Amino acid sequence: FVPKSAGGGAGGQVAKDALGNDVKSNAWLATHAKGDHSLVQGLKGDPTYLVVTPEGTIENYGINAVCTHLGCVVPWVAQLGQQQQQQQQQWYQQAENKFKCPCHGSQYDATGKKIRGPAPLSLALAHANVDAADNVVLSTWSETDFRTDEAPWWK
Ligand code: FES
Repeated sequence: FVPKSAGGGAGGQVAKDALGNDVKSNAWLATHAKGDHSLVQGLKGDPTYLVVTPEGTIENYGINAVCTHLGCVVPWVAQLGQQQQQQQQQWYQQAENKFKCPCHGSQYDATGKKIRGPAPLSLALAHANVDAADNVVLSTWSETDFRTDEAPWWK
């Protein structure tokens, strides 16, 4: 079996879950709600967030969880309580949620764009595509960073 190219970069790599298993799109979406940001093992083994879109699909980019300040893994903080969050899913509002680095307080919005330092840069992106076998494939993002309209600093 040869995985279909995910495009947007040389090759690609199937995302792995916490147990080291390939991440399958359908199974992931059955257990991760709209607006969810959860970690997988991504390119070069970097912890990477998969995002579930408001439409309930896997977002076409993953967000590298390594803080651009000194490299702590940045947690996703959904600011609403669990129950509120479930209600919120019906009218998902990205602005309520962000990444907050526990080490020195940097913050990033739901797309990984830096909103507060000391981090100098936004979190790195990777393409995320679902191949014909339902695997979630991550590949290098070498195009313009859509959040900043700048060349990707991680290239
Ligand atoms: Fe994240 Fe310093 S490592 S703010």
